[in-house]
Amino acid sequence: MKGIILAGGRGTRLHPITRGISKQLFPVYDKPMIYHPITTLMLAGVTDFLIISTPQALPMFRELLGTGENWGVQFQYAEQNEPRGLADAFLIGEDFIAGDPCALALGDNIFHGAGLGEQLQTINTSNSGATIFGYTVADPSSFGVVEQDENGKVISIEEKPKNPKSNLAVTGLYFYNNEVVDIAKTVKPSKRGEIEITSVNNAYLERGDLSLKVLPRGTAWLDAGTFDGLLQAAEYVHAVEKRTGSKIACPEEVAWHLGLIDAERVLKLAADHRNEYGDYLKRLVS
Ligand code: G1P
Repeated sequence: MKGIILAGGRGTRLHPITRGISKQLFPVYDKPMIYHPITTLMLAGVTDFLIISTPQALPMFRELLGTGENWGVQFQYAEQNEPRGLADAFLIGEDFIAGDPCALALGDNIFHGAGLGEQLQTINTSNSGATIFGYTVADPSSFGVVEQDENGKVISIEEKPKNPKSNLAVTGLYFYNNEVVDIAKTVKPSKRGEIEITSVNNAYLERGDLSLKVLPRGTAWLDAGTFDGLLQAAEYVHAVEKRTGSKIACPEEVAWHLGLIDAERVLKLAADHRNEYGDYLKRLVS
């Protein structure tokens, strides 16, 4: 399965801090934000990544992430000149996807919770239709919102509804079979002029091929794309890491656990970080 990380956009919700730098490069306490979606997809079994961002920010992502070799994965890069909607990722990534199933993770979505990795791995192997993740939030009006019947079957998904039909928001992590590019091509732009991921999901829903997994209450889902969201995400990561002594979204650790790199490589990477991050990597493998 291929994986796309969408790290473009103008970050208008975070102006003025995003005027000079892409939000997905921002620190979330001790790591760049983009480490979160990357490690989430690594846990789902993705090793082949396409990073999509603006022409201005892409060189910085290349500088940060390189080829992926250090983490036993592969990074390719593609430009999105204008934010044309999330589903545009599949049009930009058509050659990269090359007829394979593909996951999409939004660059500002942060997931953390027990058993999440195992849950994601089961999706990777079941190459069918679309799988999306729902999460109960107090105010769902700025997200895709799921409407279900009394048996939990999805009836509709609405993008940023004024009057949400439930509190179940659609998170920014999507898994699709190999039809996603063709489906994305049929999607018409919404009122805000974007080809919405919600339209892709509704297309799968109409075909009876959409699966919704509701993330349990113990899982954290944070959207770091607003002032408050960014601070809350940093506070969350800080609190959990200090308390447990384990890092969240540490790609070197995830790669080592998955057997993508060996202990020797981890020690080499640790030497690049002459700080607490490097000490953590050393401790991990010793
Ligand atoms: C996007 C999607 C929305 C989803 C959200 C998750 O919203 O359009 O359906 O709930 O991501 O973060 P956007 O970030 O474009 O406002």
